[in-house]
Amino acid sequence: MASISDIDKSKLPVHIAIIMDGNGRWAKQKGEHRIFGHQNGVASVRDVTEAAAELGIKYLTLYAFSTENWNRPKAEVDALMELLVGTIHKEVPTLNKNKIRLNAIGNLRSLPGNCYKELMDAIGQTSKNDRMTLVLALSYSSKWEIIDAVKKIAERAKKNEVAVNDIDEKIFSSALCTHGMPDPELLIRTSGEQRISNFLLWQIAYAELYFTEKLWPDFHKEEFYEAILDYQNRERRFGKTSEQISASNRQ
Ligand code: FPP
Repeated sequence: MASISDIDKSKLPVHIAIIMDGNGRWAKQKGEHRIFGHQNGVASVRDVTEAAAELGIKYLTLYAFSTENWNRPKAEVDALMELLVGTIHKEVPTLNKNKIRLNAIGNLRSLPGNCYKELMDAIGQTSKNDRMTLVLALSYSSKWEIIDAVKKIAERAKKNEVAVNDIDEKIFSSALCTHGMPDPELLIRTSGEQRISNFLLWQIAYAELYFTEKLWPDFHKEEFYEAILDYQNRERRFGKTSEQISASNRQ
C-alpha cells in the first residue's frame, strides 16, 4: 500500500478533483440502506481532505451532489441534504483549525434554504484560511455551468463590455464557477465507473484521469496516495512530444 513518504512533494498536483461514487453499492453490499453509504462516505471525505492538506495540495474539489441527483427518490435527496447541512456545520471548527477554506460551485440557489445558509455561513467563517481550498460541487453540472457562462458573457457583449471577437479562453474561464482556480491536473473517480458524468468538462481538458474499483466509503488516505503516485508516474505532454518534454525537464 502507498504511504505519504512514497510521494514526491516537488511534483504534486495543485488541484485534485474527485467524483465520489459507490456509496449506494457499498451500503447494498452490507445489506443496508443507501443513506448508510453516504453517511460512511463522510469519513472518506474527512480522511481525503486531511491527507490533501497534509501533503500541500492547494485545491481539492469534491463532486458531492450533481444536478442529475435531484432526480433520486425524495427520501434520499432529503437525507443527503440533511447530511450535508450537518456535516458542514460540524466541520467548520476543524476546517479553521487546519486553515482550510471552504468554497462551493454549482447552482447553489437551488439548494434548500437551510443548506444554502449553512454553506454560506461556513464559506464566510473559513474565508481567511489559506492552506488549502476545499470546493464542494453542489447541484453542479458542467453543461449547466457552461450555459450559465455563455449567458453571462452574452450579457456583457450586449452591454458592449466585451467585443465578440475578444472572447477567448481566459474570458470564458472567468465566467465559470471555478474562476480564479487553477484547472485540476488529476481527476479521480471511485467505484469502477469510467465516466466523467457532467463534471468540470472545460476544466479537465488536460487532467490525468484515474479510475479505481474502490467504492467511495473504502477510499481513504492510502488509496488517495496511490492515485497521486500513479499521477506522478505519468508523462504530461500537453500535445508536445516525449523528447520535447525530456529536453525541457533537463533545462
Ligand atoms: C455517489 O454514490 C455519491 C453521492 C451522490 C453523494 C456523495 C456524498 C457524500 C460522500 C456525503 C456528504 C459529502 C460531503 C461533502 C459532506 P452513489 O449514491 O451514486 O453510489 P452508487 O453509484 O453505488 O449508487
